[in-house]
Amino acid sequence: MCGIIGVVGHRKAIPILLEGLKRMEYRGYDSAGIAVIEPDELYVKKQAGKIADLAKSLARNNVNGTVGIGHTRWATHGIPNDINAHPHIDGLGKIALIHNGIIENYSKIRQELQKRGHEFLSETDTETLVHLIGELYDGNLEKAVQEALHHIRGTYGLAIIAQNEPDKIVAARMGSPIVIGLGENENFVASDMAAFVSHTRDVTFLDDGEIAVVKQDSVQHKTLENRIINKKIERVLFDIGQIEKSGYPHFMLKEIHEQPRTVEDAFRGRLMPEDGTVKLGGLHKVLDQIYDMKRLILVACGTSWHAGIVGEYMIEEMAGIPVEVEYASEFRYRNPIIEDGTVVLAISQSGETIDTLAAIREAKRRGALVLGLCNVVGSTIARETDAGIYLHAGPEIGVASTKAFTSQITILSMLALLKGRRRRISSEKGQVFIKHLNAIPEKIQSILDNEKQIKELAPLFNEHPNALYLGRGVNFPVALEGALKLKEISYVHAEGYPAAEMKHGPIALIEPGMPVVVIAIQDGTYEKILSNIEEVRARKGLVIAIVNEGDTDIMGRANHIITIPKTHHMLTPLLTAVPLQLLAYYVAVLKGCNIDQPRNLAKSVTVE
Ligand code: M6R
Repeated sequence: MCGIIGVVGHRKAIPILLEGLKRMEYRGYDSAGIAVIEPDELYVKKQAGKIADLAKSLARNNVNGTVGIGHTRWATHGIPNDINAHPHIDGLGKIALIHNGIIENYSKIRQELQKRGHEFLSETDTETLVHLIGELYDGNLEKAVQEALHHIRGTYGLAIIAQNEPDKIVAARMGSPIVIGLGENENFVASDMAAFVSHTRDVTFLDDGEIAVVKQDSVQHKTLENRIINKKIERVLFDIGQIEKSGYPHFMLKEIHEQPRTVEDAFRGRLMPEDGTVKLGGLHKVLDQIYDMKRLILVACGTSWHAGIVGEYMIEEMAGIPVEVEYASEFRYRNPIIEDGTVVLAISQSGETIDTLAAIREAKRRGALVLGLCNVVGSTIARETDAGIYLHAGPEIGVASTKAFTSQITILSMLALLKGRRRRISSEKGQVFIKHLNAIPEKIQSILDNEKQIKELAPLFNEHPNALYLGRGVNFPVALEGALKLKEISYVHAEGYPAAEMKHGPIALIEPGMPVVVIAIQDGTYEKILSNIEEVRARKGLVIAIVNEGDTDIMGRANHIITIPKTHHMLTPLLTAVPLQLLAYYVAVLKGCNIDQPRNLAKSVTVE
């Protein structure tokens, strides 16, 4: 989604802004722009298209200002074009503003401003806000921003500069993240700390309803009512190598290959092999409530929702409590029943997904204990939940989530074990489970070592516009995830189904040569899934089966097989997911798609 970077410093602003925008490119965008305060003008350049194109246009200009803001836009109000791109400028051309989020009541405010003579150039909600600030401006930018924001309904992360106050950026937040970076003789504003991480790792986070006045040598945090806030400075552990491709052609491939390490990082220091259990430090203060938990509701979107369904199978079987998995966007608008003993767990890689955030706020309002499972340290969901567990997977840059999925499952399996050991799992069984978990990274590596064979299957998807993914039990959500991966990066239409459901509808789609990917692991439903494979074959569908090493029963039934090592049946999703990620990746490579930034998609979805 949209990205914000701002700098108040001693060096030329433009290279810093462009570098920051580049680092946020992965979030998805369709236009980009910058504004820099020059001695006698507010220099603004913005255009549809890529940051590289913006950089080329800027190369011809001699702009030396050291205070500026930059933005990547992901269109919501108005098509992606030069005019709708940010920054937007007030009526007098003296104030520039960049905005992430949506101003819900912009239309009414715009009409009122028009009646008072304001003329608008763009179709955006954002331009309305900068005109309103311009109208209220009397030489004090922060005051005008505070006043204007009292009239605004909606979400925003903002960075604003004024020609007449060339020493500052005013930033504000409501529902859309803003982080302030504290550097040496320079300070930064961003929506994502990746934007300034090469300059500083000392940060403060804005909370909703707060503004920051950022100058070269000071940062002041305030409320909209002008009450001063003392913020804690946090140092983020962030290695610049984590946001570079390290020799891989795409972030997605790099992140797929990181999984032996990221899964290990998810359980590192958390296993207690001798007791056959785990310790999850982030849940320490709510451990009693977790032991007493009677029902768990998982809320999430997209891939995180798929991980949630894997968690449902694990926790119900291992811990014996009812688990529901809800799309966060549905949960927030239903009338969810939260009883005593109900715990809500939000799963979100980014920790910024607005639907998931709204769901946790609703759950809190209804009195639930709300936990978070996030990757991004200090993200909004991580901060707003009562307690939580971090994935420690490092930044996930590819829009298609891969390593976060396997880390989420790893942690959900540990949660299942933690709770299960209190109820139905003996210490011996817990020890066996931990042994299996410990061996997963090596097994993922062995699948990655077989990458070439998976790559060779990619052309099979070139022949047909549709594909079906089937799985049963704990691998049914992996089938959903495999289909999502394929469609989001290669634009091949794919559906995931529990294998037995195929005959209730999707079987109508099967025609000669249509790829049907079947996860056929030797577990309790293996015999049944072999029958489902026969049903596909009878209609001349093309079966690609993910099977266990040494499986001879599959021979002659599937057209192609991909083997994975054996493990505890509840942990198989950690292995079956990997070939499906690689398959989607190589289909997209073959089709020449933009893998890390698929069309229309954004990394963190901060609008409803
Ligand atoms: O950051 P989150 O985990 O909350 O994101 C949820 C979804 O937007 C995300 O998983 C999305 O579906 C990905 N594009 C999947 O690859």
